[in-house]
Amino acid sequence: MLTEEERREIEAEFHQYPQKRSACIDALKIVQRRRGWVSDESLRDLAAFLGMTPDELDSVATFYNLIFRRPVGSRVILICDSVSCWIMGYERIRELLTARLGIELGETSADGEFTLLPNACLGACDRAPVMMINDELYQDLDPGSLDQILDPNARRTDSSPMTSQ
Ligand code: FES
Repeated sequence: MLTEEERREIEAEFHQYPQKRSACIDALKIVQRRRGWVSDESLRDLAAFLGMTPDELDSVATFYNLIFRRPVGSRVILICDSVSCWIMGYERIRELLTARLGIELGETSADGEFTLLPNACLGACDRAPVMMINDELYQDLDPGSLDQILDPNARRTDSSPMTSQ
């Protein structure tokens, strides 16, 4: 069941679109922000609310790679695996991440904190290699900066010069 708050937040998006179903990506993002991911049950409820079939909504959700249809960690790392990042050291960053977190691409750490996913170009090619953790972009990655980013005692703040959105 969608909560009252979820319904209200989704309904607030309807005025931007000619029909309710057109708000489906916004609606998926709202549900995901509140629940962490979009389960089959959430997807069915949301589809009914938007006047869509579950298959129609699932085809949108699975096409859009930032909608998670399986549980993810509280911090989702999207590592850019496109050409500029490849040239500028993607492989080394990926190796360090998988070793440090004890997971491979597509997996979630045992403590449920991190999910590591490959992603197409994140739009910061001039600052490669690049990754995002949740909504924060981390650029010019090197082994030292990676340690700092992942260190639980040295989590960055919004004022860190290392990131932008
Ligand atoms: S190729 Fe990595 S940000 Fe563009």
